[in-house]
Amino acid sequence: MQSTDSSIRAGIKEICSDLHISNEQAHLVRKSMSLALEQGLNHPGSSSVKCLPTFVRNMPSGQEKGKYLALDLGGTNFRVLVVELFGSPQKQPLITVRKYPIPVEVRSGSGEQLFDHIASSIMNFLSEIHLNPDNLALGFTFSFPCEQSKLTSAKLTQWTKGFSCSGVVGEDICTLLRASLDKQGLEGIRICALLNDTTGCLLSCSLRESRCQVGLIVGTGCNACYVENCQNIKALPDELEGDMVVNTEWGAFGELGELDFIRTKWDRVVDQESINPGKQIFEKMISGMYLGALVRQVLLELVSQGSLFQGVNHQRLICCQDAFETRHICEVENDPLGENDRCRMAMTEVLGHSQIISPTDCYAIRLVCEEVSRRACMVLAAGVAGLLRRLHLKDAVIAVDGTLIRCHPLFTLIMSKKITQLMGEGYKFELRLARDGSGLGAAIMAAVQAKSNE
Ligand code: GLC
Repeated sequence: MQSTDSSIRAGIKEICSDLHISNEQAHLVRKSMSLALEQGLNHPGSSSVKCLPTFVRNMPSGQEKGKYLALDLGGTNFRVLVVELFGSPQKQPLITVRKYPIPVEVRSGSGEQLFDHIASSIMNFLSEIHLNPDNLALGFTFSFPCEQSKLTSAKLTQWTKGFSCSGVVGEDICTLLRASLDKQGLEGIRICALLNDTTGCLLSCSLRESRCQVGLIVGTGCNACYVENCQNIKALPDELEGDMVVNTEWGAFGELGELDFIRTKWDRVVDQESINPGKQIFEKMISGMYLGALVRQVLLELVSQGSLFQGVNHQRLICCQDAFETRHICEVENDPLGENDRCRMAMTEVLGHSQIISPTDCYAIRLVCEEVSRRACMVLAAGVAGLLRRLHLKDAVIAVDGTLIRCHPLFTLIMSKKITQLMGEGYKFELRLARDGSGLGAAIMAAVQAKSNE
């Protein structure tokens, strides 16, 4: 019995070793990310990393004041917020927020349905908090890739993260929102700015820390933005001077095969089973939308080899594509070493019953979760190091946010250790958790714009 058990464990380790990333591989990813960023800036449209201009050119002064409406679409929930800014970085903004789930049928329905749903949620929220919509300035955090020509004009280039509403790709998001707001009688709301969540994250951190130059989101999706000199952004007209935030959309890195040398058969299945096969390859190795699905694939392989769930009903894991969610990874890894309570609780949900699973099964599940999330940290660290090296930032402050960063017990720690190792001597960096970047960033941008339009 003893030897069977230890040979099963050794077999599980062996299978998981496909998820290991060597130092050499991490350096290759780092270099290739630097090149993709360079290419995205210099030859618009030719790189998997699009480096999209955001038209966000001024960092907040901290003096922004007033009440603003903010929308946040693209993460775990759709949220409507009212943010009151008090004109001083020392005084915490006052945030009132409501979450409105977007039903699956709306995510994959028509664009009109989506924007009508957004407008009616705003209506509902404003009447609940008794706020008059007339002359209310709105900032919209819309966390999908958009080609912007100004702050209030943004064409969606493609949906990501499980959204697929028809009639939106290629259209101007602000125009679609405007039409739905008008239908609801919300003509008094002024759309002042549309921005990505990475930009929101960067802006909300810059309120208190002027050295902050990079925004990083590791949530449902994964993306980064940073401050670049306009002269280096070839998609912009020559005469623009000064700085601008660039939305890298690096989740798409790998679409030209750059990551094929580290992708596993499990990555390929997760990609094929997604609604956008061949797209967002980097994101699919890192973010919350996909890590649970990756763990499920590895577990299914262990099941098919007879190393897992012997005598335990695991039908739900086989049949249900979403059975294993990323939050279950966080729960499993939150178990103190040697204990299995959280793992068993998570598996009760995953398997849909509370039959006790064996210590060896718990060992396998934990190992798979750790390997999948560690690989995500390694690959992401290589991306971050590639960005910092390209920027020649010797002392960087990186604003970070997202559900995975917040909920996984070790993600930030492992990622920072790896970035340090990949950057080598002479580089310093700091990861700063941004406070509600998507909401606050949108409000700040609305404030900056509303002021400059006065
Ligand atoms: C996806 C989106 C990107 C967003 C990221 C994080 O990668 O394409 O715009 O910033 O998710 O939410």
